[in-house]
Amino acid sequence: MKYVNLGNSGLKVSQICLGSWHLPRSNERDEYGVLKVDVEETKKAIKIAFDHGMNFIDTANRYHGAMSPVDFNHLGNAEKVLGEVLKDYDRESFVIATKVGGQMAPWMNGQGLSRKHIFWQIRESLKRLKLEYVDVYLIHVPDKETPPLETLTALNDLIKIGKVHYIGSSNLSPEEIVSFMELSKEYKLNGFVTIQEVYNLINRTIEFSKIPLARKYNFTIMAYSPLAQGLLSEKYLKGIPEGSRATYSTGFRETVTKRDLRAIEELSEFAKEKGISLPQLAIAWILSKQRNLGVNIVPIIGVSSSQQLVENLQALEISLSEDEIRRIEEIASRMKL
Ligand SMILES: NC(=O)c1ccc[n+]([C@@H]2O[C@H](COP(=O)([O-])OP(=O)(O)OC[C@H]3O[C@@H](n4cnc5c(N)ncnc54)[C@H](OP(=O)(O)O)[C@@H]3O)[C@@H](O)[C@H]2O)c1
Repeated sequence: MKYVNLGNSGLKVSQICLGSWHLPRSNERDEYGVLKVDVEETKKAIKIAFDHGMNFIDTANRYHGAMSPVDFNHLGNAEKVLGEVLKDYDRESFVIATKVGGQMAPWMNGQGLSRKHIFWQIRESLKRLKLEYVDVYLIHVPDKETPPLETLTALNDLIKIGKVHYIGSSNLSPEEIVSFMELSKEYKLNGFVTIQEVYNLINRTIEFSKIPLARKYNFTIMAYSPLAQGLLSEKYLKGIPEGSRATYSTGFRETVTKRDLRAIEELSEFAKEKGISLPQLAIAWILSKQRNLGVNIVPIIGVSSSQQLVENLQALEISLSEDEIRRIEEIASRMKL
């Protein structure tokens, strides 16, 4: 496994991170009729990750692991599952990232980036994860009604009391990121070491919006949905297969059914000619962009089985020439969002 420093910090994270928005699903349903997470298969995936030197795990207070969108009865489940699984490992062998900001309760202050909400949610996340601290705490979504200095001070206070070691953001606008980073300089506070953003072959928006900021502030990019939620695989070429994410994630199903998938078919052919799978190609492409873009990019891999993790990890061994990268990008550019 290759490791990179997270931004300008000394924290070393594996070149690939394991996500937990969606986890392997079991066939059993809970009392609300919602499919449960397959904890045994999740244990297997985490053991494979650990055995391959993958030390970086991403979660969020809102994630369930087998449901999307998530209702109030199911929030926090992914953190609970991770807490159960990770208690069998040495805490110090993992780098755990979680997030705050999304809605966790129906009442006032049940969401957002106020000091009250952040302090409430770090307590709840640590309980669910069975941890004393998280390595990386990320703002999940913007909160236009809370002054950024209040949020930044609250996050820095969590660092001071040892509940959090490093901070980052996700899904903020470039202007919001700059505002936080300039405040951190002005008030001599810790700024972000990472930004977590969607990045894959069919959504490359960050290349002109946020990558320049990553270069300026030395952020590591945590690239989420590297397979565009599974679209960058062969599975949707003949409809929506049983058990796939599009069967239960309503927003994603709409994306899949609206798409013209001819470019995916071509990418799949290209991968076959190279003797690899399309998911491997898509992840290897992201890894290769580090060189062109001059920033560290850590793809966050989501898997619904331990087998997918084994397959996707092989992307680390694949190298793409500049010609191959150009050809892949040309094919992918025909697929518009
Ligand atoms: N900050 C944010 O707002 C944000 C948003 C989204 C995600 N994230 C983070 O990023 C992580 C990854 O996102 P993502 O789950 O959307 O990533 P992704 O890699 O784009 O999609 C993962 C899904 O693709 C399918 N897949 C994976 N490997 C495959 C393979 N080898 N062959 C066929 N299908 C395969 C699986 O779905 P099936 O169920 O269809 O098998 C899997 O759940 C999340 O877990 C979360 O930690 C953060």
